[in-house]
Amino acid sequence: MFDRLWGKRRAPAFLPRLETKRLILRPMEAGDAADMFDYARRIDTTRYLLWHPHPSVEYTRSYLAMIGRLYRKGQFFDWAIVEKDSGRMIGTCGFTRLAKQHALGEVGYVLNPDYHGRGYATEAVRAVIAFGFENLELHRIEGRYMVENTPSRRVMERCGLSFEGVWRESMLVKGRYRDIGVCALLRDDYLRLCTGQATAAIRL
Ligand SMILES: CC(C)(COP(=O)(O)OP(=O)(O)OC[C@H]1O[C@@H](n2cnc3c(N)ncnc32)[C@H](O)[C@@H]1OP(=O)(O)O)[C@@H](O)C(=O)NCCC(=O)NCCS
Repeated sequence: MFDRLWGKRRAPAFLPRLETKRLILRPMEAGDAADMFDYARRIDTTRYLLWHPHPSVEYTRSYLAMIGRLYRKGQFFDWAIVEKDSGRMIGTCGFTRLAKQHALGEVGYVLNPDYHGRGYATEAVRAVIAFGFENLELHRIEGRYMVENTPSRRVMERCGLSFEGVWRESMLVKGRYRDIGVCALLRDDYLRLCTGQATAAIRL
C-alpha cells in the first residue's frame, strides 16, 4: 500500500485537494504570487524560518515556477492554504520532508500574519496529519521549530504532537546556532486520538 501510494505519483495528483471547515488545501499555482508575496515579504513571517523575506513579487513568481517544476518531479509536498470565505491564498503547509524508508513525515507551515490567531494553522495541519497517516500510511509525523517560536510549538501540540525535547544549537540559521525543539506523533497514538481513547486535552 505504502509503495503503491508513493510509487510514481506526481505531486499534483499526490497532493489532492483537501477541504476543512474553513479552508481549502490545494497545490500552489502561478496565480498565487500576489497573495504569497503579501506575506513572504514580511520579516514577521520569516523570523523563525530558514529563508529571508522575498524582495519582490517577481522573486515570488520565480519561486512558484520552481515549485511547479518540483511538483512535476514529485519532489514537493506543500499545499497552498486558501481561506474559503475570501478565496485568498493565506499560507502554505505540508511535508517539508518525507522519508519513505522510515515512513516519516515532517510538517511545516507558514501563515500570513494578518490571519494569525484564528486557528487556521491548526485546522490546516490537522488535515495534513490525517492525510499523512490515513493516505500515506506514515508511521511518525514530527515537527521542528526554533525554541523561541512558541506559536509554532502550540500548533503542533494542538494537533496532537508531543514535545520530545530540544536539539541544542543543532542548526545554523541566519548566522546563529539555534536550539531546535522537536514534537512528534506516532501512528498508533494518532489512531487512539481518532477513536477517542485519548485525554480530552490532546484529542484531535
Ligand atoms: C506558527 C504559526 C502558523 C502559528 O499561527 P497561529 O495563528 O498562532 O496558529 P493557529 O492558526 O493554529 O491559531 C491558534 C491561535 O488562534 C486562536 N484561535 C482563535 N480561533 C480559533 C479556532 N476557531 N480554533 C483554534 N484556535 C483559534 C487560538 O486560541 C490560538 O491562539 P493562542 O496560541 O494565542 O492561544 C504562525 O505564527 C506563523 O505563520 N509564523 C510564521 C511562520 C512560522 O514560524 N512557521 C513555523 C515554522 S516551525
